[in-house]
Amino acid sequence: MDFALNEEQELFLEMVRKLARNEVAALAERVDREHRFPRETIQKMGELGLLGLTIPEAYGGSGGEYLSYVLMIEELAKVCASTAVIVAVHTGLACASIARFGSDVQREKYLTRLVTGEMIGAYALTEPNAGSDAASLALMAADEGDHWRLNGSKVFITNASEAGLFVTFVRTEPASRGAKGITCLIVERDTPGLTISKPVEKMGLHGSVTCELHFENALVPKANVLGDSGQGFTVAMQLLDGGRIAIAAQGLGIAAGAFDYALRYIKQREQFGRPIAANQGIQWLAADRATEIDAARLLVYRAAWLKTTGRPHGKEAAMAKKYATDTAMRVTSDCVQLLGGYGYTREYPVERYMRDAKVTQIYEGTNQVQQMVIARHLLR
Ligand code: CAA
Repeated sequence: MDFALNEEQELFLEMVRKLARNEVAALAERVDREHRFPRETIQKMGELGLLGLTIPEAYGGSGGEYLSYVLMIEELAKVCASTAVIVAVHTGLACASIARFGSDVQREKYLTRLVTGEMIGAYALTEPNAGSDAASLALMAADEGDHWRLNGSKVFITNASEAGLFVTFVRTEPASRGAKGITCLIVERDTPGLTISKPVEKMGLHGSVTCELHFENALVPKANVLGDSGQGFTVAMQLLDGGRIAIAAQGLGIAAGAFDYALRYIKQREQFGRPIAANQGIQWLAADRATEIDAARLLVYRAAWLKTTGRPHGKEAAMAKKYATDTAMRVTSDCVQLLGGYGYTREYPVERYMRDAKVTQIYEGTNQVQQMVIARHLLR
C-alpha cells in the first residue's frame, strides 16, 4: 500500500495548482457575484488538454488516469466550485459517455471537439417527475424509421445554455416501465424542436448554468444512439458511478479550500487579547474538521484508485460522495462560524463556499440515494 503520489502525479498537481491559483481563483469572486460562466478558464483548460484529461489519446484526449482527474477537480473546487462542476459534467459525464459507449463515427464527430473545449457537453437525465427515481423518466422518443421524435422535458441540466450537445436519456419503448426501454442519445444543441430555458436562479454555484430543456417534436437521428438501444439506464448508472467520485472530489475541495482560509483567519484574529485559535474550543473544532477532511480525502482517492485500476467502485464512489459532501457542508458552515459576523458577509469567501457546498449533497444522486446504493451493495 502506498499513500504517496508518484512523480508524474506530483508534477501534474503542481501544474493544476498553478492554474487554479493564477486563473481560477482570480475569477472566482466575480463568477459568483455576476453569475458568470468562466469561459476563459474553460477555454484555457481545453488548450492545456485538461478537458479531455481521461479520454484516450486515440480519441484526441490526454490519456490521463482517473486519479489525476480527481486531483484536478479537488484543486479547482478549492478555489471555485462552479468551475469544478462545469468540468466534472463536461469531462466526467459528457466526454466519458462518448469515449466509452460511442461509435468511431460519434467519437470523431463529437469527442474531438469536446476535448478541446470547442464544444461543451451536458448530461440530461433528470426530469420534473424523475429525480431520485431516475428510472421513471418519461421523455418519449417515438420510432420514425431512421430517427426518433422526442417530446418531453429535462430539468436541472448543468452547462445547458453553453452546451453544444446533450447526452440525453429517453424512453424509446412506449409500453416499457422503469429501467427497461430507456435509450441514451446524443442530441445536438441546434436540433429543431429543442428549446433551452434561461438559467434557473440558484442558492450557489452561480458560475455554473442550470437550465430546463423542452423537446417538442425534436427529431434525432438513430445514428446518435449511444450504446445499445433500450440499455440507456445501465449507461446512465455506469457513468454516475464515476461521476460521483468527481462530485466527492468537488466536496473535498470545497471543504479544504474553506478550511485553509478559516485556519489562517483564526491564527490572526484577536479577541480577549489573543488569537482566537488559542481557545481550546476552537482548536478542538479545527482538529475534528481537519480529521474529517482527511478521511474524506482517503475515501475519494480510494474510489478513484479503484476506478483507475479497473476495479468495481460503485459502492466506494457512493461512500466517498456521501461522506465528502456531508463534510463539505459541515466544514463550510463551521468556517462561517469561525469568521463570526465577517463570515456571514460577502466581503469574505467562506459564505460562498457554504452556499456552493449545499448542492453537492443533492446532485449526481442525493446523499440518501447514495445510502440506498451502499445498502444494496451490502445486502446483495
Ligand atoms: N451499473 C450498472 N448497472 C446498474 C447500476 C450500476 N451502477 N445500477 C443499477 N444498474 C442496473 C441494474 O442492474 C438493473 O438492471 P437489470 O434490471 O438488468 O438487473 C437496472 O439498472 C435497474 O437497477 P435498479 O433496480 O437498482 O434501479 P432503481 O430504479 O431502483 O434505481 C437508483 C436505482 C440508484 C436509485 C437510481 O435511480 C439513481 O441513481 N437515482 C439517482 C439519480 C441521479 O443520480 N441523478 C443524477 C443526475 S446527473 C447530475 O446531477 C449531474 C449534475 O448536474 C451535477
